[in-house]
Parts: sequence; structure tokens; C-alpha cells
Amino acid sequence: MPTIEVRFASGARTDCVIESGALQRLPALCANAGLSGSSGLLCDARVLSLHRDELLALGAHFGDPVGRPVSESRKTLAEVEAMCEELSARRVGRDGYVVAIGGGVLTDLAGLAAALYLRGVPWVSVPSTLLAQVDAGLGGKTGANLRAGKNLVGAFHQPRLVVCDPVLLTTLPSRERWSGLAEVVKCALLEGGDLLQRCERDLERAASGEADALAPLVEGAVRLKARIVAADEREGGQRAFLNLGHTVGHALEAATGYTHFSHGEAVALGLRGMLALCEGMPERDRALRLVERLRIADGRTLDSGQRQAALEAMGRDKKARRGAVRFVLLERIGAPVLREASAEDCARALAAALA
Ligand SMILES: NC(=O)c1ccc[n+]([C@@H]2O[C@H](COP(=O)([O-])OP(=O)(O)OC[C@H]3O[C@@H](n4cnc5c(N)ncnc54)[C@H](O)[C@@H]3O)[C@@H](O)[C@H]2O)c1
Ligand SMILES: [Zn+2]
Repeated sequence: MPTIEVRFASGARTDCVIESGALQRLPALCANAGLSGSSGLLCDARVLSLHRDELLALGAHFGDPVGRPVSESRKTLAEVEAMCEELSARRVGRDGYVVAIGGGVLTDLAGLAAALYLRGVPWVSVPSTLLAQVDAGLGGKTGANLRAGKNLVGAFHQPRLVVCDPVLLTTLPSRERWSGLAEVVKCALLEGGDLLQRCERDLERAASGEADALAPLVEGAVRLKARIVAADEREGGQRAFLNLGHTVGHALEAATGYTHFSHGEAVALGLRGMLALCEGMPERDRALRLVERLRIADGRTLDSGQRQAALEAMGRDKKARRGAVRFVLLERIGAPVLREASAEDCARALAAALA
């Protein structure tokens, strides 16, 4: 069983466990991590209905699971407040902790509730989507949306424990698994080596939900993210590299009103766009071949208004500095660099993403 220990400069520590069947061992894992006392079990309602028996069984240890019908449009401070009320009703005390089981929306919200409730109690993240296992689980960013945009309120609050059980991913719709795999491929391009080779070998098997193909990919991506966030807890430096493919990706999501592409699909297209700007990069064709295997459900045709909106969104990207957009590019596989991009570069990357 791989356990990855992450120690932060702030003194916080997160243990990540990646193991098929880990969910059933959650009480023991929490005890090993020194968590005792009263607990509140907050679950994505869909996950609760799909994995009812396992989660009700956990209720014997953590108290009855609270199912929350969360979604991106309900990723609000009102939901955080409702979660805090549930914790209070369950008499979770200062010695207690929160266990969050669900996709990235649920874990971001529950993590924020844990950061605020009684001015902060420890929490355990049990991400149930591939995207959340490889990205949202680790790193301590918690948050909610405002009308003006996504994740505009939040707090850094490192989970004490992250438990990734690939068995949870078997009930995930195929499109959600492909979405998570785009982030895995992003990690593989940042890392190279074994993770890249495994992606090249096992991508389609992982997409079909085979736990033995998924588990090593989750582990590789988590190891990479662990290394990066440990070195850069508050996102001042290297953490920006995790935005590989996201400059174009975020623009595509914004230009289509967050409805046409899943996040991972937008990232997959963003990786194509990014590679168009990596002139002279060795093994660029190899990277492109892998990225092109990522499936996009509803095609990638944008009308001219949407293309224009995507270019404008890139200009507004929060990574824009002094009028220049900053792209993460690859000097080679495993060697990301930050580069300023001109308006022409942005247009070229967008065209390549949608070609
Ligand atoms: N904190 C971070 O560092 C970080 C990083 C990346 C993304 N995020 C956030 O994560 C969110 C996206 O996460 P997501 O892609 O997991 O979306 P999500 O939480 O909306 O989950 C996607 C869908 O899958 C369902 N689901 C969850 N687990 C399931 C399972 N095991 N079986 C079947 N269905 C299941 C959910 O109910 C939902 O309908 C965004 O809000 C994003 O901002 C946060
Ligand atoms: Zn992402």
C-alpha cells in the first residue's frame, strides 16, 4: 500500500493513501493518523446512493453519513454554512474532525467547512472522482464559487489524510474518467519517466475503469503533485506548472459557458494548444500522440463568437501580467517553463487546440 507523506513549511502534514479497498479501512487509517474524537461524515449524495452499503457501514464509526446534493452551481457559501450546521447538529467538537467523501466540488466545500467550523478542525479527504483523486484531493486549496467566478472564496487548509480508493472510480461515468485522465496526462508530460510510459500503455484500460490500470496512474499523479505542493504550499512558484494546458483550457470553458466541455476535455485541448507553442521541443510528436488519445465527448467545434470569447478570456487569465499572458510550456517532456505569450501566440495555440 503506497502511503505518500507530504510535509509543508507551515508544519502541516498530509498522508496520502492510494489503495483498492482503502475506503473500508478508513476508521483504521484515521486512527493511525491520530484522528479521534467526534467526527462528521459529509458525502456527495450521488456517491452515497451509489456506494450506500459501504458508506452506511462507515457510519458506525463516523456517525451517520450526511448526503449533500452538490454540483458546480451549488458550490456556494450557503452550502458551506449548511455543512457547518450539520457538523454542529452532530456535536462535532474542537477535538473532532471532518471526513469528506465525494468529487472535487464536495471536497472543496467540506474542506472549507472544516477550515471555518470552530475556527478550524482537521479533515480527511476521500476523493471519489479521478479528477479529484489526482488533483483536488491534495494541496489544501478549499473553496466555493461567487457569482463573478469559480473558487473566488476559500482558504488553504491541508487535509490530515487523503484516501484514494480506485474502487470508487468504477461507478464513475466514462466521460468523468476521461476528464480525470487529461490531468493524469498533464502530470505525465510534467514528469516523463514511468508515469508517461504507463499512460502510453494503459490509457484506454484506465478509461474503462480497470482498477489495476487506474491505481498506478493515480499514484504517479499524486506523487508529482505531492512534490510540487510540498515545495510551494501557497502557490508562489512551481505550483504554477500544474497549470500546464490550462491557459487555453480555462479560456475554452469560459467561452462556452462551462457547459460544452468537461474541465478535463478543456485541458486535453489546452495541452494540444500548448504543444503548438513548444517549438523545437524534442519528442513533441510523442507528447501530441498521447494527448490526441484523450477523448472529447461532444466534438470541438466553436463558432466564431466563441473563438473570439476564448481569445478575450485568455487575455483576462489571472496569470496575465503587464499585458502579457503567461503560458506553461515544455522545453522537453519533464521540463516545464513559464513563458510570456503574445496575442499571436494565443491565437496560434487556440487554433491548434481546435484543429
Ligand atoms: N482544490 C483543488 O486543488 C482543486 C483542484 C482541481 C479541481 N478542483 C475543483 O473540483 C471540482 C471538480 O471536481 P470533479 O471533477 O470531481 O467534479 P464533481 O465533484 O462535480 O463530480 C462530478 C460528478 O461525478 C459525481 N460523482 C462523484 N463521485 C462519483 C462516483 N464515485 N461515481 C459516480 N459519480 C460520482 C458527482 O456527483 C458529480 O455529478 C471543481 O469545482 C474544481 O474547482 C479543486
Ligand atoms: Zn485542472
